[in-house]
Amino acid sequence: MALDIESLKQINLFEGLAPDMLQYVAERARQRTYRADEIIVHQDDPGETFYIVLVGTVKISSTLPDGNEVFLALLASGDTFGEMSLIDTGGRSADVATQEETTLVSFSRSVFDYLLDGSSIFSRNLMRILARRLRLANVRIQAHCTLDVYGLVARQILEFADLYGNELPNGDRLIPIRLTQGNMAELVGASRERVNQVMVAYRQKGLISVDSRYHITVHKPGELRKRCQ
Ligand code: CMP
Repeated sequence: MALDIESLKQINLFEGLAPDMLQYVAERARQRTYRADEIIVHQDDPGETFYIVLVGTVKISSTLPDGNEVFLALLASGDTFGEMSLIDTGGRSADVATQEETTLVSFSRSVFDYLLDGSSIFSRNLMRILARRLRLANVRIQAHCTLDVYGLVARQILEFADLYGNELPNGDRLIPIRLTQGNMAELVGASRERVNQVMVAYRQKGLISVDSRYHITVHKPGELRKRCQ
């Protein structure tokens, strides 16, 4: 299904691109909706496609030689993935799976190469996204060396609120992505039980609330920030 140019303009990676380039991309885009828990990209496979998350969430994880899984990131609406193996031809660096029903737009390597070769704006956008990802990874590594579970959970909630949160009329921030306690435990590298204790404590103190779709609303960001210091 061809994508309209207006949808593409909303994606960070395509910000500032000339209309003829956007048209070229839109005509070659493939859009598809996946159920929850479908694997989109397998670690180590050769990369031939890159993706945009139009609606929903995907989980990026890596499988260790002992079979354990390391949760690397959650990506949501407007984010892109699958570019690393197109750049370095080293195979997919991680597994990517849908976390809930998710609509993705995909492009072939030839579209990626066309943009990279033909647009310095696209290249800059891509570098900006990769630099931001590295910054986030650095902050996470730092947090793991310095914070306890209370701090790690608070920091992770604040990160998602900053990246994906929508401000509500009363100033609270709603994170419109499905974040179960299991996800949180994987992200912060703690047991589900421990993360449950922390989330219950934060809810009881009125710092956050969680609705039936596992969407977290942050009520007191200042209090959460104090836990990460
Ligand atoms: P690629 O290696 O082609 O396939 C897996 C994709 O997961 C990768 O490209 C990136 O787009 C994405 N990815 C890998 N590591 C991270 C990370 N730490 N944060 C966000 N996205 C990542």
